[in-house]
Amino acid sequence: MVPSLSFIATTNAVRYVGAHPVFADVDPISGNVDRHTVRAALTGRTRAVIVVDQGGVPVDLDGVRSVTDPLGVVVIEDAACAAGSTYRGRPVGAGAEIATWSFHPRKLLTTGEGGMITTTRLPWAVRAKHLREHAMSVSAADRHASVLPPAESYDEVGFNFRMTDLQAAVGLVQLGRLGEIVARRRAIAARYHAAIAPIPGLRAVVDPEFGTSNFQSFWVEVSEEYPIDRDDLLEALAAAGISARRGIMAAHRQAPYRDLTPQAGLPATERLTDRTLILPVFHQLTDADQDRVIAVLHSPDGALR
Ligand SMILES: Cc1ncc(COP(=O)(O)O)c(C=O)c1O
Repeated sequence: MVPSLSFIATTNAVRYVGAHPVFADVDPISGNVDRHTVRAALTGRTRAVIVVDQGGVPVDLDGVRSVTDPLGVVVIEDAACAAGSTYRGRPVGAGAEIATWSFHPRKLLTTGEGGMITTTRLPWAVRAKHLREHAMSVSAADRHASVLPPAESYDEVGFNFRMTDLQAAVGLVQLGRLGEIVARRRAIAARYHAAIAPIPGLRAVVDPEFGTSNFQSFWVEVSEEYPIDRDDLLEALAAAGISARRGIMAAHRQAPYRDLTPQAGLPATERLTDRTLILPVFHQLTDADQDRVIAVLHSPDGALR
């Protein structure tokens, strides 16, 4: 099971292993799956559940696991967006048996490309390391360290999923700065929150009660009360020279997955994907620039005129 409201890579991962994606809806406030939406989408054949910390908002992992653990169903946390977010006072991902990370340039912690798996299960860590290096019996590090390397063997079909040392070096420096990067984004988010709260028809993403977001994606839902719809607001922002983005995509609307829409539909997913947009947040965003964004939100018609 997997939320449709996520970058398509989340669902593709299900297909890569020959499994069948079953889409779960999300909570309409947080944009994440929760115990209710997971329970509704579980079937007798569910082997694993992928939860996503969407846009950096921590998912309620304990809530989901209260449903899945008794069934012996594994939860995989897709924490691609969430480096530096917290869940119940700990870094996001710390409570997951297995979590996956992205270091793509859009992420707060980037190595250019690449990613990481973290797991609390030692056998899984050993197996992941084995598979990432062509399932070679001797690691590259051991081979390079030995004068006469032992003959290697390959007991299964592996992959080249290595990260280069150069990328890892960049990532380690970024990791040292993560706290500072997240603090800056949270300060920008706080300014947006104060400015958006009084605007009827706009609702901004917030921290859930059990954690904090890194605000990788600061999204705003444009509802019926707002004078124009989401797409027109994007145009108004663009007309003012401000580049915003449509909200998170929904995988079930894309060609490979269109026939998998559940019978009951995915109403919260569809509402969020249709009505949200992501506002600019970056380290160097000045108060003056942010005030320009806020001015358009207050008076979108002015920008379109
Ligand atoms: C939730 C989520 N999962 C997975 C990915 C894929 O990450 P990568 O491009 O590093 O494979 C992304 C990338 O944006 C993402 O947002």
